[in-house]
Amino acid sequence: MTGSKVAKPYEVFASYVDSERMPWFEWVPGHWLKLCKLNPISGQMVLFIKSRPGTALPVHFHSGTVIVYTVQGEWTYDEGWVAKPGDVIYELSGSTHSPRMVGKEDTIVFAIIEGSLEFRDDDGNKLDMDNWQTMLKRYHDFCSANGIEPVDITRFD
Ligand SMILES: [Fe+2]
Repeated sequence: MTGSKVAKPYEVFASYVDSERMPWFEWVPGHWLKLCKLNPISGQMVLFIKSRPGTALPVHFHSGTVIVYTVQGEWTYDEGWVAKPGDVIYELSGSTHSPRMVGKEDTIVFAIIEGSLEFRDDDGNKLDMDNWQTMLKRYHDFCSANGIEPVDITRFD
């Protein structure tokens, strides 16, 4: 096993992410992603989302939980709260929603997403889907189109 670490009992590894090195790329119109980690084993996605003021991310269903930390801006699901910088939202698996940006500046959130998310129409029909694999492809496609050497964000050593 050349070039890879072998864990000793009680030894903890940390995987550093150089956020400055990771590019923002468009996800859907008005919304950009900056990926940090994609876990091929669990399917977990760790990423930033940046959204223009006044936009809403299309309605989507989550198969797993989502933890969202608001870095900048304000957003809501119209459930009686508005998330502002420093707030944390814990979304239950099986939730369906459309986050609406209500601040005056871009909204930036840091999110830990388990499983997939499915974009749905008004009748609940699946339109599109994202998981760790489609996110990895989006990132690689952006890198390829812009002459960027991709970082292997699926590694943990
Ligand atoms: Fe969501």
